Amino acid sequence: MSTTQAVIDRVDKESESYLEELKEYLRIPSISTDPAFKSEVLRCAAFVMDQMRRAGLETRLLEQEDAYPMVYGEWTEAVGKPTILFYGHYDVQPPDPLELWDNPPFEPTVVGDELVARGATDDKGQSFAHLKAVAAILSETGTLPVNVKFIVEGEEESGGAAIEKFVREDKGTLLSADAVFVSDSAMYAPGQPSLVYGLKGLAYMELKVKGPSRDLHSGSFGGAVTNPLNALASIVGSLRDAATGRIAIPGFYDDVVMIEDWERKEFAALDFDEESYRKEIGVPCVFGEEGYSTLERVWARPTCDVNGIFGGYSGQGAKTVLPSWGGAKVSMRLVPNQDPLKIEQLFRDHVIDIAPPGVEVEVQSHHGAAAVLLETEGPIVDAAMSAMEDVWKRPVRVREGGSIPIVSTFAEVLNVPILLLGFGLSDDRLHSPNEKFNISNFYGGIKAVVHFIDRLGSLSTDT
Ligand code: BES
Ligand code: MN
Ligand code: MN
Repeated sequence: MSTTQAVIDRVDKESESYLEELKEYLRIPSISTDPAFKSEVLRCAAFVMDQMRRAGLETRLLEQEDAYPMVYGEWTEAVGKPTILFYGHYDVQPPDPLELWDNPPFEPTVVGDELVARGATDDKGQSFAHLKAVAAILSETGTLPVNVKFIVEGEEESGGAAIEKFVREDKGTLLSADAVFVSDSAMYAPGQPSLVYGLKGLAYMELKVKGPSRDLHSGSFGGAVTNPLNALASIVGSLRDAATGRIAIPGFYDDVVMIEDWERKEFAALDFDEESYRKEIGVPCVFGEEGYSTLERVWARPTCDVNGIFGGYSGQGAKTVLPSWGGAKVSMRLVPNQDPLKIEQLFRDHVIDIAPPGVEVEVQSHHGAAAVLLETEGPIVDAAMSAMEDVWKRPVRVREGGSIPIVSTFAEVLNVPILLLGFGLSDDRLHSPNEKFNISNFYGGIKAVVHFIDRLGSLSTDT
């Protein structure tokens, strides 16, 4: 029997205990965006570090001022062999609205083949699969055919500023590697994995429109002054052409990299049922920028969406009030070559330019991220594709509408293949109530990584 088969058998044998440990991980409410959970986020870092140590890695916490630590682990005894850097994040999104969960978000529950908990797929379950693969190989054979490094951060869901700074300063010293492996995305369909070769970037803005110094009687003063919420609505309404779906901020499309012909062909060839997509999300029709298909819009065209709008009276019944202020959160998902800082500036200029007289507009920016396009060919990509095929099928090439901020920095600084191979499913409800991860995908993910390590070990270092 080959060693790899022996490792795979071990994964099957240990599957129950892997699942129990994953549940333990999921019980820690490591919500990085909410300062009230600070001690839990730190406890979670300690848990990951302990897991790495027990797997046989040399570990350390990478700490930075005012930031949650990154957990680092390595095993680098395979002299002359390639090095894989595994990336993941141990922080999770807030679980609200709590009342929509069937079970408490931090009490992982098995429902059929699904493990339901906040962070199950994003990203604890997926990145834990990397670690369990290495643990299984090391405990079965006492060695690895390649070198491995792990970096698991605690701020991905809040913008990833700390790891960004670290990777730039490190310049590939501690993190030098021949490939980066990331599992923080979904398969295209059950049983059909995907290689994500494009992620979107992000520019997240907040607007505050200020009018009168206090709320006013809307009869006594209405008609005499600009209502800040009316003004806010007209500003927000001017961001996008309602008929064509085009974003109306001057200069917004200037640097956009056009979707290529081969991509349009590949996307069109994917098995995509728009009708069931529409039904699943509960909308009367799909809508987006004219001239593009749904997949093209989501994966390869920039967007501008209001995430929240607030101010005035929204309680029960009617209150005749002219509010003193209004606010909105607006995010733009960006595509390759759009510079988040430049887009922020265009947004500011546009909003100030079109603001009606009688109000003062404040524009603030939250975290941003650059979009990225990755290599889809070469011996390492090939080895990874084959490893996924060993468990499921050969991955299809897709892009993604979501962002993983550090990926563009990895691409720029490390300049090696970055493999975005996820084990999640598109209905895993990440960031939503009842987030889940398929348990068989958890085990499949572990096995795929075992195969990848085996396959990469057989390639020579100078590939
Ligand atoms: N794992 C997601 C990104 C993702 C989502 C990739 C779906 C592939 C498919 C990641 O944890 C995430 O939520 N990213 C944020 C980044 C933001 C907070 C800067 C996002 O995309 O909103
Ligand atoms: Mn994630
Ligand atoms: Mn997320």
